[in-house]
Amino acid sequence: MSLVLDPAAQDLLFREAHTANTFTDEPVTEEQVRAIYDLVKYGPTAFNQTPLRVTLVRSPEARERLVRHMAEGNRPKTATAPLVAILSADNEFHEELPALFPAFPAAKDAFFAERPVRERSAALNSALQAAYFIVGVRAAGLAAGPMTGFDFEGVRKEFLDDDHTPLMVVNIGRPGPDASYPRSPRLAYEDVITTV
Ligand SMILES: Cc1cc2nc3c(=O)[nH]c(=O)nc-3n(C[C@H](O)[C@H](O)[C@H](O)COP(=O)(O)O)c2cc1C
Repeated sequence: MSLVLDPAAQDLLFREAHTANTFTDEPVTEEQVRAIYDLVKYGPTAFNQTPLRVTLVRSPEARERLVRHMAEGNRPKTATAPLVAILSADNEFHEELPALFPAFPAAKDAFFAERPVRERSAALNSALQAAYFIVGVRAAGLAAGPMTGFDFEGVRKEFLDDDHTPLMVVNIGRPGPDASYPRSPRLAYEDVITTV
């Protein structure tokens, strides 16, 4: 009764949604990815810095190059998912900041002049955006399979550059047979929430 979101949407986004390990061969279209981005771009980040960058791996040749960097157990699903996305953090996000945060354009130099500060901020805020992205994939009626089991330096060199740090690789598509593992337990409210 406390949640105002339609119960069917609650199920779609969380209760019934699972991380997928197998997929049907139904393609994931550019239109779907645009719809997902146009929804999740509104998720909040510090100073509206929005450091997440997404590389869609569509060509068979690029897919092959990516699979080589995945951990053994992640290879079959990364090779067969309809779409695979490399999520990364742009450590030079501050260049966009005057446009993205017009309320305080000086934030670029006042807070983010130093690279280590930017890297810390980009790591946190791009991880937030990665979570919004996963929920957005679910909102499109698709399933996501996020993975951090891969060679980060290998993926960075192969697909990105020195200014981008890989975050995760996400398989995307409609779940196939036996797509998910049984739900693992979650911590109870009392284990997580304290009130002071
Ligand atoms: C950041 C992140 C990294 C993950 N890395 C892997 C991975 O490398 N390989 C894998 O099989 N599953 C990976 N998972 C999947 C998790 O184990 C799964 O999301 C979690 O157990 C919840 O499963 P459920 O959605 O079915 O409840 C990852 C999930 C996240 C969010």
